[in-house]
Formats: sequence, C-alpha cells, structure tokens
Amino acid sequence: MTTKPWTHDSWRNFVLKQMPSYPDAAKLAEVESSLAGMPPLVFTEEVVKLKKQLALVESGKAFLLQGGDCAESFAEFSANNIRNTFRVLLQMAVVLTYGAACPVIKVGRLAGQFAKPRSSETETQADQTLPAYRGDIVNDINFSAESRTPDPERMLRAYSQAAATLNLLRALASGGFADLHQVHSWNVDFVKDSPQSARYKQLADQIAEALAFMEACGATKQANGALSHVDFFTSHEALLLGYEQALTRNDENGAGWVDTSAHMLWVGDRTRDPNGAHIEFLRGINNPIAIKLGPSISKDHLLRLIDILNPDNESGRLCLISRMGADKIEQQLPKLVRAVKAEQRHVIWSCDPMHGNTIKSAAGLKTRVFDQVLNEVKRFFSIHQAEGTYAGGIHLELTGQAVTECVGGSHDITEQQLADRYHSYCDPRLNATQSLDMAFLIADMLKGNRSNIG
Ligand code: PEP
Ligand code: CO
Repeated sequence: MTTKPWTHDSWRNFVLKQMPSYPDAAKLAEVESSLAGMPPLVFTEEVVKLKKQLALVESGKAFLLQGGDCAESFAEFSANNIRNTFRVLLQMAVVLTYGAACPVIKVGRLAGQFAKPRSSETETQADQTLPAYRGDIVNDINFSAESRTPDPERMLRAYSQAAATLNLLRALASGGFADLHQVHSWNVDFVKDSPQSARYKQLADQIAEALAFMEACGATKQANGALSHVDFFTSHEALLLGYEQALTRNDENGAGWVDTSAHMLWVGDRTRDPNGAHIEFLRGINNPIAIKLGPSISKDHLLRLIDILNPDNESGRLCLISRMGADKIEQQLPKLVRAVKAEQRHVIWSCDPMHGNTIKSAAGLKTRVFDQVLNEVKRFFSIHQAEGTYAGGIHLELTGQAVTECVGGSHDITEQQLADRYHSYCDPRLNATQSLDMAFLIADMLKGNRSNIG
C-alpha cells in the first residue's frame, strides 16, 4: 500500500488521465501561482461540519441529497439559474425530510463544477479534428481551433464565478429565502400545473400548521435557527488537478490539508485508477471525498481505493456513488456492498442514476428516460434493503430551469419536445418538475429502507 509522503503536488509524479495539454506552460504556471495566492472559497470549519453530518448519513440517521448541473458554464451563469437550482434542492429536501422523517444534507454540484472528463481526446466535424471540449474551465465549446485550445486564464474566470455563486448561495441559505416559513413560495410556476404540485402544496400546508403549533409552544425561529436557515454545501469533480492544488491549503488550526475549492470533492469513473494522479491527490486532503463506481469496478479495486483514501476508516470521509445503469446495477452492486460490509469499512452509499442511463434520441440528442433513472434508484434501494445496508444518498444532474433534456416525468416530455429547451453544455438534466417527482418517489423508498435498518 502507498505510504510515500504526500504533498499537495505529489500527484504530478503519477499517471495523469483526462488532462488538457496547455500550449503555454509558462502561462499555466503563472495562473496556478496567482490562484494559489487567492482567498479560499470554503472554510475548514465548514468542511469539518459536513464530515460530521456525513457521519450521521453513514449511520442511517440522515440522507445525502447531492445535485446540480452536469457542467456549469460561463454563458449560463446568472442569479436566476443559481437561485432556481437552490430552490428545487430545497423543495426536494423538504419532501424527503417530511416524507421520511429524516434530516437531509444538501450538497450542490455547484460553484466549481466546470471540468469534464471526455471519452475521446478529440472531436471530428466534417473533415476537421480538434481537441474535445473539456468544460469552460479549460476551453470553449465552440468548434474552432482557437476556441478549443486550452487556455489557463479560464481557471481565473471559473474561480471568480465560483466565488460569486457561493456568495449568492450563502445569502440564499441564511438570508431569509430558505426560511421554512417560505415553504409555499418555493413552488415555482411551471411546476404548479403538475400532479406533484398539489402534493407539494398539501405537504407545505402541513408544515405551516406544524410551525404554527410549534410557535404557539414557544419553539420560534428566533429560538431555533434550523427553521430559518439551512446548511448548504458545495461539491465538484476533482479533475483539473492544477486548479485543485492551487486552492489546497494547510490549515493553521490543525485540520491539515484542505482543498478549499469546495466542501466535498469526488473522483470520476474514468480517473479512479489507484495508481493514478487523481487518487494520489485526493488521499492527502481532509475533505469528505466520493468515488464514482461504474460497472467496470471490481471488489478488489474498490477495497484498494478505500484503503488508500480512508486508511483510518474515518466516519464521514468516504462516499461511494454507484452509477451502474438500471440494467447493470443488480449484477454489479451487491458484491461490492457485501465486500465493504464484510470488511467493516465505513462508507456512505449513494446512487447516481444519471450517468449509467444516458442514451441518444432519434434526432441525436443525449437524453435520459425518467423511468429508467427511477428504475436504477428503485433497484439501488432494494439491493440495500436485501443486504441490510443503508441507501444513504442520491446524486442527480438537475436544474431549476424548465428545460426539456430528459424524457418522461409527470409532464411526460416526449423525444420530439427535447429540442424545445435543451440548454445543457454536457449531460441532460432533470428539470424542476422531474426533480420534484423524483423526490416524492424517493421519500417513500427511504422510509422503507430506514425502518429496515433501524
Ligand atoms: C459526472 O458526474 O458528470 C460524470 C462525468 O460522472 P462519471 O465520472 O460517473 O461518468
Ligand atoms: Co454528467
């Protein structure tokens, strides 16, 4: 097992996958060093707090809701988009909290989710072959040689967009918007004519009644801060390691090395090589970490990753995000769950039902079918039910906008409608209605799973 000393740049001596080739190394070094002098985006205390909350998830006392864009972009950056995504996550959290009587830890794929792994290094259109688009932090999606050339300056723009996004998220989380008394007003207009809207309104009415009762008993929001603000955390894939290194700082108060670009970081399915640079980087930072598990992972590979990333078997440190695909999960997941349980490793099990269920529509658009996504979630829950383990989280690509990127859901979006409002820079996201649909369905499953392990 790796016991070599770790430093925040020791990853540079390991095999690097999915990295852009920057033509100007001097400029890259200059940008990385200026980023290293910039303020942290998140604080160590918040990272420690998230880890404690994730330890509760691990023991079945809370549920992890992680969601947001597949890829944030410079073009789609606006207060409305951020607020709408935050709002739909709040709505989902309320549905889950109320439906399953379970605290929900809210983590956005937001404020830093810019870099994308690609299945091919290049893209060919007509007779031209150019570097693949790797996310706005690296290059531009436009298909021209200039746009596709990786430009280090983009890291600075991504950093300032992440800082501005976090600033708004912090204000939304604590400045009144997330006050539970506002539960009715989170219901957005275009969701209002969906069947779940009536269900949501009914739930909001019950919450309002409960709040009035609690206030009459003296449990006011002044007395209990949890009623008027929420904890909201950020996360992204730790892919572009030069950027992550620059924001990784050694905490003066003893918390050790913390990547201050987000509270939680994950390693993607394509870069989880135990001998690779991404795992080397992640093993040394003290943030909570997640690993995406696609169908190709073996139980030995997984146990090795757990040994490297969580050698002390610390609670709240490691989250395993299964993203097998609805048709593969039953074959792949149980053996992993059994192996981890047999070795008594502390992990959180979460389900990403998006990335194993991506298909192409007849017109060539990437899409996901709501019922297939749901099927993977159902199977995830029933596997944990059968194994006596806890299905602790859900990881979704979603947006609060009224996009038409995934087929189905209670508005029954058809393949023909996909082109109407297809805005994703990368993978298709659930819209607000589909997200709320999902939350109600998951709340029921969660209730069952909790009583099973409780
Ligand atoms: C993603 O989460 O956007 C992603 C690329 O996931 P995965 O690594 O699981 O394919
Ligand atoms: Co994606």
